[in-house]
Formats: sequence, C-alpha cells, structure tokens
Amino acid sequence: MRKPLVAGNWKMNGTSAKNVLLLDGILAQKDKFSSVNVAIFPPAVYLHQVQMALQSSGLSWGTQNLSQFRQGAYTGEISAAMLKDFGCKYVLIGHSERRCLYAELDLDQLVLDHIVADKIDMALTEGVTPIICIGESPEEHAKGQTEEVIARLMDIVINQSGVKALAQTVLAYEPVWAIGTGKSATPEWAQEVHSFMRERVAKHDRATAESLQILYGGSVKGDNAAPLFSMPDIDGGLVGGASLDADEFVKICQAACS
Ligand code: PGA
Repeated sequence: MRKPLVAGNWKMNGTSAKNVLLLDGILAQKDKFSSVNVAIFPPAVYLHQVQMALQSSGLSWGTQNLSQFRQGAYTGEISAAMLKDFGCKYVLIGHSERRCLYAELDLDQLVLDHIVADKIDMALTEGVTPIICIGESPEEHAKGQTEEVIARLMDIVINQSGVKALAQTVLAYEPVWAIGTGKSATPEWAQEVHSFMRERVAKHDRATAESLQILYGGSVKGDNAAPLFSMPDIDGGLVGGASLDADEFVKICQAACS
C-alpha cells in the first residue's frame, strides 16, 4: 500500500512573516491529515525557518532544486550535502520552470534529461529523496508526444541509475500546460499517463513499480484534488499556487486521506 504524499512547492513566494502565518495555519490543522505524508518546499533562504517550524511536526521539507555537482566553485548553487545538513527529506528535480526559464533554456532537452539524472544520483548519495518532475509542454501535448517525452527521461534515469534507484525516488507527472494555468488535467488523463509511467518501470522490475509513488502536479486545488487522488495510480499531488493558502492546502491534504 502506497502512502499518499502531498508536496507544497512555494516557488519564489514568501517572507519570514508570511511563512510563519502559513506554517502555523497548516500545523494547527495537522490532525486532519495524519494518514498522509506532507512536505513543504520553500525558497532555499527560508529552509532553516521551515526546518525549525516543522522539525517535530511529522511534516517534511526540502528545496526546489539542487546542483548536479558535489561542491566547489559553483556560484549560487546548493549541494545535496547542504540539503542533508538542513534535514531535507526530499528535493524537487527537473521542474519545468527550471527547464524553461533558466540556463537550462539554451540546452537541448536531451542534455537536460542527463543533467536531471546527474542531480538524482547526487541526491541519492546523500539519502535525500528526489521528486522527479516529468511532463510534456503544450506543443508536445498538441502533437500527441506525451508518452515519448516521459519515456525519454525515464529511460535515461533507469539506464544511468538503475531501476532499483527508482525505488528511492518519487515521480511527479507535471504536464506543463496545467501548471499555474488553473486548467488541471482530468483524472482520467492523468491516470492514463501515471499508469504508463508505472508500466515503464514494471518492464524492468515489477516490485519497484508497485511501490513507486507517482504524484500529479498542475493546478491541483481543494475542489479538484479528491477525484484526482481517487485514481489507482495517483499517489498524491505536487501543489504550487494552492500551497500558499493554509486552508486550501489542508483541504488538498485531506483529499489524499483515504
Ligand atoms: P500549480 O503548480 O499548482 O500552481 O499549477 C504546480 C507545480 O508547478 O508544481
């Protein structure tokens, strides 16, 4: 039985004062979602604040990215060892906003997939669980290339790290056309893609596939979470905008309680 996970990606939002209110609002209601794993992903500068607030709460935390390098002259980067130092249980890897908006922009998608695989290896060496974001762009969606895009990254990760390593990870299907648009994928569409992802792993190792958590991300809200999470291969959500409102986020966490 896979325990659901709800991850709140704050992206580049928050201030010290606002974070206190948001975290207090979530923690005050944590009895409502005790059967679900919950993790918060603040901007890295607030990691210590979040760690202090959550350390004896049963909730987890992590960062929104990490370096593929171990340490050294990489200005502005954060290493896997640093995440461990701050008690991070998870790290988001390969989020489409990193792919589309940053240095990552100039690179070919295939090169990017290899960088994602290097970051996954780096997180795993420090015992931090990668949440690997995968999803097709609106153009790829229109061309019917969803499975191709997903299979490309999954195969690179399986070839590089081995299928057993996937048992130490979480996958997140994040169709780029659904992120921040208010237009979530339908539960049926997401289920079909999640099932494709699980089958891709099962071809190598059925036990790993069965235990693998696969989250859905893209405009998850309090009122559409339950039908998404009721699908057999959807094991929780990666939530952006709605994670900035305590009541809305708690509603999503409750929807993941079976
Ligand atoms: P959204 O973002 O919930 O605001 O669509 C999801 C994500 O980017 O992880």
